[in-house]
Amino acid sequence: MIVSTQKLFDHAYGKYAVGAYNINNAEQIMGLFRGNMDSKAPFIIQLSKGARSYTDTRLLEAMIRAAPDAIFAVHLDHGDEKTCYDCIDSGFYSSVMIDASHESFDENIAATRRVVDRAHAKGISVEAELGKLGGVEEHVSVDEADAKLTDPKQVKEFVERSGCDSLACAIGTSHGAYKFSGGQGLHFDVIEQIARLMPRFPLVMHGSSSVPQDEVTRINAAGGKLKGAKGVDEAQITKASTMGVTKVNIDTDGRLVWCRVHRECFRDDPENFDLRPAGKVFMAEYAKYIVHKNKVLGSAGQLDSVRAFINK
Ligand code: G3H
Ligand code: 13P
Ligand code: ZN
Repeated sequence: MIVSTQKLFDHAYGKYAVGAYNINNAEQIMGLFRGNMDSKAPFIIQLSKGARSYTDTRLLEAMIRAAPDAIFAVHLDHGDEKTCYDCIDSGFYSSVMIDASHESFDENIAATRRVVDRAHAKGISVEAELGKLGGVEEHVSVDEADAKLTDPKQVKEFVERSGCDSLACAIGTSHGAYKFSGGQGLHFDVIEQIARLMPRFPLVMHGSSSVPQDEVTRINAAGGKLKGAKGVDEAQITKASTMGVTKVNIDTDGRLVWCRVHRECFRDDPENFDLRPAGKVFMAEYAKYIVHKNKVLGSAGQLDSVRAFINK
């Protein structure tokens, strides 16, 4: 059942975080639903602009729409204004993210406000971003040196003037498989200050992949070249999940599982050219990863409680 993103946040806030997993194809959708059903967790399935143009969006979305008995929200990840409007008008999305964090403070607010007005008229909620994460996103690349942590003093004004429903904050993470080049971790002081100023307002952590070292080692042993890949410490994710970080975005880890499985499968069976053996292993392994991650987030086992909360 597709549900409101805000309802999921209302249930989770301060107790656990909802996993927001990026998907691009059928195998990811299958593994994601299997993993969340196995761990009895609510979740967010999110599509980036790149994912929407990778395959035929209508076919991809139809697959999600027909998904079996799960409780999840559908979210546009890192949208520009035009893509937000397309998703709002499609009637399929629970929430959209307008990412105008590369603009000035006032222009970020103005763009977010325009999207909020269109989205709220249709009962859809909006995630905005304040601050700059390091790493690479589809339409903008930010060097770690240029990354800028969210200034807690700006948050209240930003939220009030823009009307956004949740906020992606720069708290030390970056997108991709090479995080924390300076060795630092999450900035809990920033999370704490924002949560104190904005009680019960859902915060979003982007760049949350933990880049499991076992995956990196296996990828490299099977011919990959991922030197120095590193992610977020899982104990820090668990801690942040009880401090107001209510949505945790994960894409890279799923790609690493995909990469490891396919490299190993073709290395170990070089005569095979059928896509299904590797696809089968990937779906099972990705589901296993999701089960583990939902434990880290605290969302595992929350399904019945969320269902009752939504139906009451
Ligand atoms: O934050 C970006 C997400 O990982 C989506 O990546 O734009 O390559 O689909 P993508
Ligand atoms: P990772 O690259 O750490 O998986 O972050 C994904 C993300 O933030 C999607 O919006
Ligand atoms: Zn992101």
